[in-house]
Amino acid sequence: MSTDATIKTIAVIGAGQMGGGIAQVAAVKGFETLVYDAFPKSLDRAKATHAKRLAREVEKERMTQADVDAALARITYASNLDDLAGADIAIEAATENFDIKSDLFKKLASMLAGDQILATNTSSISITRIAAETDDAAPRVIGMHFFNPVPVMKLVEVINGIATDPAVTQRTIALAEALGKTPLAANDRAGFVSNRVLMPMINEAFYAWMEGVAEPEAIDGIMKLGCNFPMGPLRLADFIGLDTCVNIMDVLAEGLNSDRYRACPLLKQLVTAGRLGDKTGQGVFDYTK
Ligand code: CAA
Repeated sequence: MSTDATIKTIAVIGAGQMGGGIAQVAAVKGFETLVYDAFPKSLDRAKATHAKRLAREVEKERMTQADVDAALARITYASNLDDLAGADIAIEAATENFDIKSDLFKKLASMLAGDQILATNTSSISITRIAAETDDAAPRVIGMHFFNPVPVMKLVEVINGIATDPAVTQRTIALAEALGKTPLAANDRAGFVSNRVLMPMINEAFYAWMEGVAEPEAIDGIMKLGCNFPMGPLRLADFIGLDTCVNIMDVLAEGLNSDRYRACPLLKQLVTAGRLGDKTGQGVFDYTK
């Protein structure tokens, strides 16, 4: 349970890979959880994934069936943004697109107009820029960056915007801990720490492939066996989504004003071809077989 007793109900905006994972963790940790998505299909998929993942927890004897049933009962799947009105915090995990987030934060700021925290799971967009869209709610806006797969990965990168109230930061850190995560602070610079370091490495793996340094299997094998990565950088790119990788590189190139961060042409070409990774069944590697 949260050490911050003011947070009892968590709203998650977006029921994709990240939002669905955040909702699962919140419900398992005892929070009332409202998960919203504009697309009913995404909600259905999230619901099925929650049932499947939690059944696995019972199978592995990490949770009892009664605890799983209670966790699932704490999740409300909402297709209307207004259904989030009772939340103590909103964690936005919508598509990584500034216009979509801007629109959502304007709505959330007026709907949750008290002392609710307005957190974004953005992987690279400036928190200050998102907060500026909300006018007077900027002190309540903060970055809460989870990692995929959320139920497994321990980190939450916590990012203050220029106007974030220190009390909001403290409550966010307490919440991350109550979710069983380790919160670590990063400043509001393009890509924060995680993607400032990870994404150029992934991009470089595409350059290595494009320039014929090695085949994808060898690039990944070398990084797995030589650097102890759980996944090679190209496999990880498929897992994250190649379109997301390009979006993050674009944010780095613009925010840090350097060509050093331009997305590799081969990475962009795969995105143009619709090969986005796991989510489309094909990216660097083919998952359809
Ligand atoms: N949801 C929940 N649990 C999952 C999961 C998912 N999507 N995928 C795997 N798991 C669990 C499995 O259930 C398994 O646990 P049990 O067997 O005990 O049930 C455990 O994780 C290990 O899974 P596997 O045995 O299938 O495979 P693995 O040992 O290769 O581990 C992995 C899978 C945890 C994903 C591992 O490969 C890994 O850590 N990869 C790197 C992930 C990473 O770097 N993520 C960060 C991406 S960057 C990001 O998210 C932020 C951004 O801004 C882009």
